[in-house]
Amino acid sequence: MINVIGLGYIGLPTALMFAKSGLDVVGTDLNADLVQTLQKGALTFEEDGLDNLFADALAKGIRFSTEYQKADTYLIAVPTPYIRETKKLDQKYLVAALHKVLDVCEKGAVLIIESTVSPGTINKYIRPEIEKRGLTIGTDVHLVHAPERIIPGNMIYELEHNSRTIGCDEPAIGEQVKAMYATFCQGEIVVTDIRSAEMSKVVENTYRDVNIAFANELARICRADGMDVYEIIRIANKHPRVNILQPGPGVGGHCISVDPWFLVGDYPDLTNIILTARKTNDAMPGHVLARMREIMREHGITDLKKVGLYGLAYKENVDDTRESPTMQLLARLDEHLSFGVKVYDPHVTKNIVPNQYQDFDAFLQDTELVVIMVAHDHIKENLDRLQGMQVLDTKNICGDDAYKL
Ligand SMILES: NC(=O)c1ccc[n+]([C@@H]2O[C@H](COP(=O)([O-])OP(=O)(O)OC[C@H]3O[C@@H](n4cnc5c(N)ncnc54)[C@H](O)[C@@H]3O)[C@@H](O)[C@H]2O)c1
Repeated sequence: MINVIGLGYIGLPTALMFAKSGLDVVGTDLNADLVQTLQKGALTFEEDGLDNLFADALAKGIRFSTEYQKADTYLIAVPTPYIRETKKLDQKYLVAALHKVLDVCEKGAVLIIESTVSPGTINKYIRPEIEKRGLTIGTDVHLVHAPERIIPGNMIYELEHNSRTIGCDEPAIGEQVKAMYATFCQGEIVVTDIRSAEMSKVVENTYRDVNIAFANELARICRADGMDVYEIIRIANKHPRVNILQPGPGVGGHCISVDPWFLVGDYPDLTNIILTARKTNDAMPGHVLARMREIMREHGITDLKKVGLYGLAYKENVDDTRESPTMQLLARLDEHLSFGVKVYDPHVTKNIVPNQYQDFDAFLQDTELVVIMVAHDHIKENLDRLQGMQVLDTKNICGDDAYKL
């Protein structure tokens, strides 16, 4: 039996996938409301295809509990944020989950850490906790790090098709875990050591952050000198060895805006590009705010209640708002101005910020400037509804009819 610990954006779909593939799975989460919702047969977040996968997994007998189970395999997918002051990984969720697993597991259990961790975390925080209990790693407990790569919005496809990494101490355990993932994963599964698995995962997200920062810096250079960054990138990308990403209003989510900090926190003297990239991307919501102010001035819009931010999620077609550029922008706005700007996101059905609308028509009513922060399909299909309003398009979906970054 496999006990999946942490049933959030990563743990839940992974647990469902294992169950659908015929493994005996119990999902455990500390959040009793979340567990109850799942037990009632309802989902806890929005994701394309998750409802079908959920139905298949329920039919195969997946169970949900707030209790840790006796199992031969544990998969931990709890949060791994960074500490704002030190930029280092906050290991407290991981260590808490580890102890609860050790409280119930039997000799020989395999413990897979799927959460993203900073390089060296397992040596620094996980091994000592196991050893403190008098347990021997490799006999009493087998350790594996299998970081996840899937992207919200395309999770089900990516669970089945992405390549995976299995970091382990013992090749035989690596092969055992590889065979387990291969029940649903058709991508290549690379077996390596634990430190390489830790490092490669963080490097992947850091690579993305640095490349996005390059595009964002270009956007600001082009803005300063009246050039169209999208046209410049389009032309430059015709070079056979150039592939510049698109600029945007900032970087959010639980991965790309977090993981590079682990490297900055652990290697402060060696991380120049990575730190600058983080700062560049974190400055983008401020740039959007400055653009918003320019356009307001140009059109004599003095009342923030006439400005609407479209999109609260951190990326298109998902409901995850963690670290989103809009949340970052609102935080800046809140510091300097009386609150008034309207906010709307068709995917975020809970009100989490002031002046959030649940109705698109009401959001557009009396709005003079719309700032498109997220390129949800919904807005792409409703661009005609913005006619007569000023539009600041941070995602370049309106062509030349709108103000750009
Ligand atoms: N969200 C993504 O797109 C993504 C992608 C790749 C990797 N990751 C990594 O996966 C890990 C999990 O991220 P997530 O987005 O699924 O987080 P999440 O916040 O959506 O889910 C984590 C869940 O763990 C539960 N939890 C916390 N402590 C617990 C404990 N001790 N025992 C049982 N349950 C506990 C929480 O209640 C929550 O439901 C993180 O390390 C993250 O960096 C996330």
